[in-house]
Amino acid sequence: MLDILKVTAKEGVKFVEKHDFVKIYTHYDADGITSGAILATSLARMGKDFQVRFLKGLNESVEFDDDLIILSDMGSGYPDVVSNIESDVIIVDHHIPVGKFEKENLVHINPHLSGLDGTYELSASGTAYVFANVLGDNRDLAGLALVGAMGDKQKMIGGNAEILRDGLSFGCLELRRGLSLHSIKLREALIYSIEPFLDFYKKEDELDEFLNDVGLDGDRNVDDLSDEELYRLSNAIALRLLKLNAYTGVFKDMMGRGIVLKGELIRNAVTMCDVVNACGRISACSVGFALCLKDSRFLNRAFDIWKRYTIEILEKVERFREDVREGFCIRYIVVENDTVSPLATIISRYLYPDKPFIAVSVKGERAKVSARSNDRINVNMAEVMQKASEKVGGRGGGHSVAAGAIIPAKKVEEFISEVDRLCCSQG
Ligand code: C5P
Repeated sequence: MLDILKVTAKEGVKFVEKHDFVKIYTHYDADGITSGAILATSLARMGKDFQVRFLKGLNESVEFDDDLIILSDMGSGYPDVVSNIESDVIIVDHHIPVGKFEKENLVHINPHLSGLDGTYELSASGTAYVFANVLGDNRDLAGLALVGAMGDKQKMIGGNAEILRDGLSFGCLELRRGLSLHSIKLREALIYSIEPFLDFYKKEDELDEFLNDVGLDGDRNVDDLSDEELYRLSNAIALRLLKLNAYTGVFKDMMGRGIVLKGELIRNAVTMCDVVNACGRISACSVGFALCLKDSRFLNRAFDIWKRYTIEILEKVERFREDVREGFCIRYIVVENDTVSPLATIISRYLYPDKPFIAVSVKGERAKVSARSNDRINVNMAEVMQKASEKVGGRGGGHSVAAGAIIPAKKVEEFISEVDRLCCSQG
């Protein structure tokens, strides 16, 4: 299946061979950081010099003046920006392509353009992995490719399943039975779990009762639980998620098997994903990147960042969950000067999965929007964000289930009404 993408990826090889230096611009989340690491590692193995810069998006003002530029986990939705770059450009992305690219010296590698699903079945890191493996034998990077996919809440099907098979046969990955929890003490794993979000933070009594009911000692490491104990734990977690009102898609993500990254510094793929994501979210992308390059000096710092970041999110859920408002066809929240992306993911997946969810954060004259839906709702949020933001003089896009926008702060109300109207007309 991925062979079809290799056809375009091979065109990128010619660009790489032509230049000694490559500038990589990649997205700041787990998918972007792992993509950047896959590209950087494969270029280093070819003896190429490179530099990596992490961006929140292509709406940041950047001077693109290097000979070869790789845009990773971004670019497909910004034909105007890309067409204005004079350098040779390779886009390695999985966002839905929009518009027309007026540029000859461009190689655009994107699963959507090769008839593959880039929303659930192949992320930017998976696309980077395909590209890396036409540049050389880089099958040992399969684990990073899947960590990026997990960061974007993708499924282990289609292209991702093919990468998983690659990694298993190459020997850098292993599957084990289990739950998608961190390899730490059970009590902490339940409190600090964000995916799945279990709502035990600051609810010690509920947690004690839960552990008591399931007959497990919270001081034991999750990895030491027997199959029978894991089975009991999964049932209890599933019940808790049902009571929370979670989106039923999370059950499949959580149960069954875990991926072991045999060659990475953090072997539990769920933990690796969360730690890299946390580094990106608190603007310490280079720490996450160093982990992906297997630099163990950064491990303790990365775990500290993860814990701090996780507590911050759990605090935020506590603070804002009562402020969720309801439109006709959406739910939404408006906050002042705060990061809303992870909040939007948790609220939409675990607390209110029945309608599209919009989180708006107003910062000065601009407002940042995070929008979420899921495959049960059937509303394309990328399209909604693009149309609604353009109507109010902003800009937006992304994926059908996770999209975003930047809009003028004084247009927030008008924007929310337009989003609501568009969601009603799509749903
Ligand atoms: O920031 P957040 O995680 O909510 O973004 C979700 C998705 O929306 C990302 O894939 C991002 O690329 C996209 N997005 C966008 N334009 C923006 C903000 C986000 O395309 N202005």
